[in-house]
Amino acid sequence: MKEISKNPNLCVTLHRQNAHLHRVNSAFASVASLDLRTFRSPLNTKILITGANGQLGRSLQKISSRYSESMFYFTDIDTLDICDKRQLSDFIYSNDISYILNCAAYTAVDKAEDDRECCMRINRDAVRNIGQVASERGVKVVHISTDYVFDGTATHPYREEDQTNPQSFYGQSKLEGEIALQQVCPDAVIIRTSWLYSEYGANFVKTMLRLGNEQTALKVVCDQTGSPTYAEDLAAAMMAMVEHNPFVPGIYHFANEGVCSWYDFAVKIMDLAGLNCRVYPIQTQEYPTRAIRPAYSVLDKEKIKSVYNLSIPRWEESLEKCLKLLPNQICNIT
Ligand SMILES: NC(=O)c1ccc[n+]([C@@H]2O[C@H](COP(=O)([O-])OP(=O)(O)OC[C@H]3O[C@@H](n4cnc5c(N)ncnc54)[C@H](OP(=O)(O)O)[C@@H]3O)[C@@H](O)[C@H]2O)c1
Repeated sequence: MKEISKNPNLCVTLHRQNAHLHRVNSAFASVASLDLRTFRSPLNTKILITGANGQLGRSLQKISSRYSESMFYFTDIDTLDICDKRQLSDFIYSNDISYILNCAAYTAVDKAEDDRECCMRINRDAVRNIGQVASERGVKVVHISTDYVFDGTATHPYREEDQTNPQSFYGQSKLEGEIALQQVCPDAVIIRTSWLYSEYGANFVKTMLRLGNEQTALKVVCDQTGSPTYAEDLAAAMMAMVEHNPFVPGIYHFANEGVCSWYDFAVKIMDLAGLNCRVYPIQTQEYPTRAIRPAYSVLDKEKIKSVYNLSIPRWEESLEKCLKLLPNQICNIT
C-alpha cells in the first residue's frame, strides 16, 4: 500500500476497491490561518478529497487533523480516477460520502493548448461526472476553478457574476467544467482562485527560491496583476464551508488579501528568503508563453467573506508562513 501522507495523526485503512484511505482521528482542532466566526462540526462527516496528491489536496491532508469529527478519504488518479464515473459512483455509495472536495484537475496551462482532449476530459467531463453522482446521491460538492476564466481587461476586482471570457484553453476547460457542474448539480459550490502556491509540488514560489539560489539576477513580468493564494488558506476556507450551516451553493472567489504583480511577488520572495538575487521587471511580451494569461485577475472576495464569515490573511503574511516551512531557503525570517 502506498501511503499518501506522512501525517502521524492519520491511520490508514484499505478500501475494498483498493483505494488508499486516510481516516483522521485526532484531538487537535484549532484553526490557524482563518478566523472562522460561525461554524459547526458535523459528527462523522465523510469527506472525499480527489486529487489529494496535488498542492491543494496535500494542504487539505495537512490541515485534516484539525477536524477530529470528520473522516477523510484522500484519493488521487491511481486510487480514484474522476474520469471513471462508475468507479466514482461505487466509491461514494460504498463509503457513504457526504462531501466531495474536488482538488483534481488538469493544471498544465501551457501544455493544455496542445493536449486539448485530455484537458477537457478532466476539467469538464470528469467534473460533470462528479456533479451527476453527487446529485444522485445527495452529496455536497466543493469544486475549484480559476481566475483564468476571465480575460483580464477589467478595471475593478472581478466579481462572481462578471462576464467570463477565457483566453487560454485551460481557462476554457475550467469554465466549461463550471457550467457542466452547475447544470447537473445546482447545489454545488465553485471556488475560483488564483496564483496558487504551497510548500508542495511545483509552483512560482518554489521556482523563485530555486532560481534565487542559482542566479544573481532574474527577469519577472510586472504587467500581470493578481493575488497569490496560499493553498493552506484555501484548504481551510473549503473546510469552513463544509462546517458552515447552511451550506450555501454558488460561485465564490477566494485569494489572499492584497494585490501585486508577479514581479512584486518575486521581489518579496527573494527579500523574505534573504536571497541575493536582483529581480528586474519586464513586460509580458518579453516573456512569451504558449497560453495567454490575463493581465489583470484580481478577484473580489466580498461574497465568500460575508456568506461564510471568513477573514482572509494578506498574501505577504501567508507567503512568510509558507517560506518558514521550506527548509534551507530562509535567512530573513525569524
Ligand atoms: N495552480 C494554480 O496556480 C491554480 C490557480 C488557480 C486555480 N487552480 C485550480 O486549483 C485546483 C488545485 O490546483 P493544484 O495546483 O493543487 O493542482 P495540482 O497540484 O496539479 O493537483 C491536481 C491533482 O489532480 C490529479 N489528477 C489529475 N487527473 C486526475 C483524475 N482523472 N482523477 C483523479 N486525480 C487526478 C493530479 O495527478 P497528476 O499530477 O498525476 O496529474 C494531481 O495530483 C485545480 O482545480 C486548479 O485548476 C490552480
